[in-house]
Amino acid sequence: MLIYAEGLCFYSLSNESMRLIITTVVGIVIGYWIGTSFPPVIKHKHFFTSGTISYGGDRNSWNSANNQNKDNSSSNSTADIYKIYVPTNPRGAESLPKGIVASESDFYLRRLWGNPDEDLVIRQKYLVTFTVGYEQKDNIDAAIKKFSENFTILLFHYDGRTSEWDEFEWSKRAIHVSARKQAKWWYAKRFLHPDIVAPYEYIFIWDEDLGLEHFDAEEYIKLVKKHGLEISQPGLEPDRGLTWKMTKKRDDHEVHKETEEQPGWCTDPHLPPCAAFVEIMATVFSRDAWRCVWHMIQNDLIHGWGLDFALRKCVEPAHEKIGVVDAQWIAHEVIPSLGNQGQAEKYKAPWEGVRERCKKEWRMFQKRLADADYAYYMEKGILPPNTSIPYF
Ligand SMILES: *[C@@H]1O[C@H](CO)[C@@H](O)[C@H](O)[C@H]1NC(C)=O
Ligand SMILES: *[C@@H]1O[C@H](CO)[C@@H](O)[C@H](O)[C@H]1NC(C)=O
Ligand SMILES: *[C@@H]1O[C@H](CO)[C@@H](O)[C@H](O)[C@H]1NC(C)=O
Ligand SMILES: *[C@@H]1O[C@H](CO)[C@@H](O)[C@H](O)[C@H]1NC(C)=O
Repeated sequence: MLIYAEGLCFYSLSNESMRLIITTVVGIVIGYWIGTSFPPVIKHKHFFTSGTISYGGDRNSWNSANNQNKDNSSSNSTADIYKIYVPTNPRGAESLPKGIVASESDFYLRRLWGNPDEDLVIRQKYLVTFTVGYEQKDNIDAAIKKFSENFTILLFHYDGRTSEWDEFEWSKRAIHVSARKQAKWWYAKRFLHPDIVAPYEYIFIWDEDLGLEHFDAEEYIKLVKKHGLEISQPGLEPDRGLTWKMTKKRDDHEVHKETEEQPGWCTDPHLPPCAAFVEIMATVFSRDAWRCVWHMIQNDLIHGWGLDFALRKCVEPAHEKIGVVDAQWIAHEVIPSLGNQGQAEKYKAPWEGVRERCKKEWRMFQKRLADADYAYYMEKGILPPNTSIPYF
């Protein structure tokens, strides 16, 4: 009864703990004796109902057992008084006293020993995630060095190889999540719930094929704060894997929030792809923006195409809070890494299948968004604004 082992926690008997045990046993015996000798006293004082002592079983049954002989007519019965219901608690946790609810968590690594409140030497304020395969290890190693100790590192492994990364010092303090052949937004949806990443002021959700030679994460965050960017990305080195003008690095700016596209591409200068727009390869979210974007990520759409055009729905005004940081810029290496993890089919390379899936997801996402917008306005009995229609 006094010695037990459960998981890693066990008690062994030294002389000192023997003394402790004897004290405990004596205490229990005396306590039991008092309990059995004066049961009515304890019952009337509701000794245990303060909620600080936990016990197996259902609290209500304990209360109702105690109220059997009491007047049942008043709704202010003891059972009601002691029944905990806190409507402002998170859904499903209303029966808990407020003080015990821990509705948010983190990725801080703790120790198996010592005082819990001394576990954390540093509480990182920022989170960086990379979706990686082991073949990109050198690139990721170089990239991680651009992030200070103020960053929690989280790697999503799509190739099942995690332990090999231990050759890098930083890997031991990183969090490794492994699930084969999934794409970035699949992991983000499942492992970056807003309540889990709540302590992080900024969240970097990045691809593995980025060159960070001219990038420093701490400097980047200073600029993001200075310019009030809720959703951002570093400028991309020109002429390498560039799809949109918006994300191209500009030499004459610290940060830019708008651009000019090909004639006819932008219906409104404040709308994507001319403003309120960054791509999804190296996106940085503020805590609040991520709380919104997380909800918009669809469980079956894993590549996230089209998400970039919809990010603006999460910040207001979007053309001021979404932007590109030119002073800290990166290069997009365009290594078809995860793309090559597709399934080879007749007449089709693996990457082609992946590309097709990306485009299909884009169309689906667009349609869902348009349908949802439309349904909302119809419900409200108003004509949908033109701007609610996505660009493509
Ligand atoms: C006491 O209240 C409970 C719950 O409201 C009810 O089920 C029970 O019948 C009542 N008992 C008496 C004696 O009124
Ligand atoms: C229950 O208690 C509250 C506050 O003590 C009182 O305002 C209310 O009238 C009581 N209700 C009944 C049915 O006795
Ligand atoms: C980490 O954050 C602290 C507190 O904001 C800051 O003083 C320190 O300079 C940061 N570390 C680096 C490497 O920038
Ligand atoms: C909305 O679109 C319709 C049809 O394309 C156009 O006639 C109308 O002028 C637009 N309204 C605004 C406010 O841009």
